[in-house]
Amino acid sequence: MTISGKRNNFLFSVNTCKLRVFLPAAGDWAAFSVALSPMVAHRAPALVSLADYQCEAQRRLDPGALAYVSGGAGDELTMRENAAAWQRLAIRPRVLVGVGQRDPGTTLLGKRRPHPLIIAPMAFQRFAHPDGELASARAAAKTGAIVCLATLASTTAPRLAQAVPDAPRWFQLYVFADRGVSRELVAQAVEHGYEALVVTVDLPVLGVRERELRTPLLATHAEQIAGAAAAGAQGTMTPPQFASLIDADLKWSDIEQFARESPIPVLVKGILTPEDARLAAEHGAAGVVVSNHGGRQLDTVFTGAEALPEIAAAVGERIDVLVDGGIRRGTDVLKALSLGARAVMVGRPVIWGLAVDGADGAARVLEILLSEFDTALALAGAPRAAGLDGSFVAPAPWAGARR
Ligand code: FNR
Repeated sequence: MTISGKRNNFLFSVNTCKLRVFLPAAGDWAAFSVALSPMVAHRAPALVSLADYQCEAQRRLDPGALAYVSGGAGDELTMRENAAAWQRLAIRPRVLVGVGQRDPGTTLLGKRRPHPLIIAPMAFQRFAHPDGELASARAAAKTGAIVCLATLASTTAPRLAQAVPDAPRWFQLYVFADRGVSRELVAQAVEHGYEALVVTVDLPVLGVRERELRTPLLATHAEQIAGAAAAGAQGTMTPPQFASLIDADLKWSDIEQFARESPIPVLVKGILTPEDARLAAEHGAAGVVVSNHGGRQLDTVFTGAEALPEIAAAVGERIDVLVDGGIRRGTDVLKALSLGARAVMVGRPVIWGLAVDGADGAARVLEILLSEFDTALALAGAPRAAGLDGSFVAPAPWAGARR
């Protein structure tokens, strides 16, 4: 069979390639339709926003993993509003202030950081990519973000530190009934260069997450979740079973004890009221993370964007205030800092990046957010992120409009 290249023998349409081939035996030309691989037929469009990564990740994650990462508690009102609340804020841009040199840097726990992005603690990351948390840490090292390793991670604090020593890292603590186990986890983290302890306090019990109930994440062997294994977990377990290990009787006195004993600063994650933010400061916390756990715990609570201003006003002078939930755009980061946050945690978008392309995908997600943040600083007339304040935001005129 000869394929003639002399004349216009190849005619391309959208999905197929038409070939005209000269068949010597027949002494004639024959026409064939050849299906092209989708990659050839359509060049995959570039993923340029976090929403693009979300769409692509949704195609790739298996149903249980997708339900686990995408779901929220109850009617998912808080989860949806987390992102929507940032959109209900308008930016009040200033002009002619000279934005040729920009600095997205922030000071966090007394230390200069190149920018305010932190990878939120998220459990079991191997459901998104075989490299799991190590891939997130590589993305952190590449972009200068801090990675916050979860107690229920699919790697250990020492292993991550050894595999990716350049990643700036914090450790998230779920406190187990056996405080000795929790102290041991903290000691390991301190020994391996974790710079802060983030104690999550909004999960005494697991929220009602219906997507997970309908389509559970595949059970994981407890040995793969070393933090849980240390607390006595055995056999294969589902996320709700792992969550049941967490002590529902944690109190402020425990926070005070961790803060007193810990050689690294303690932040309390899951604060939504100024009352609790004040208590955190009074019990020795160096910071609070204003968070509703990505809308995964108690539905119909305030969003981060809504709770932040009051909390920053109450304790922002004394301790560091961070926020998370629904951060999807550089403009969201700008608004968070304007309302008094020193840094933001980013959750699901990092998982989307992992699902699409491992460490490179997670790094790309952070790079997109950083690039958008830089553009927002320039266009809002705030060349230094540290110079952002409440004058840069206002309730948007469209906030009350029906969407
Ligand atoms: C979480 N989150 C969480 N928080 C925590 O303190 N310990 C944990 O183990 C987990 N695990 C976890 C798993 C998954 C799949 C998600 C999506 C979230 C909550 C997380 O740290 C953060 O508060 C939210 O994800 C922030 O909201 P966005 O950015 O996901 O909207």
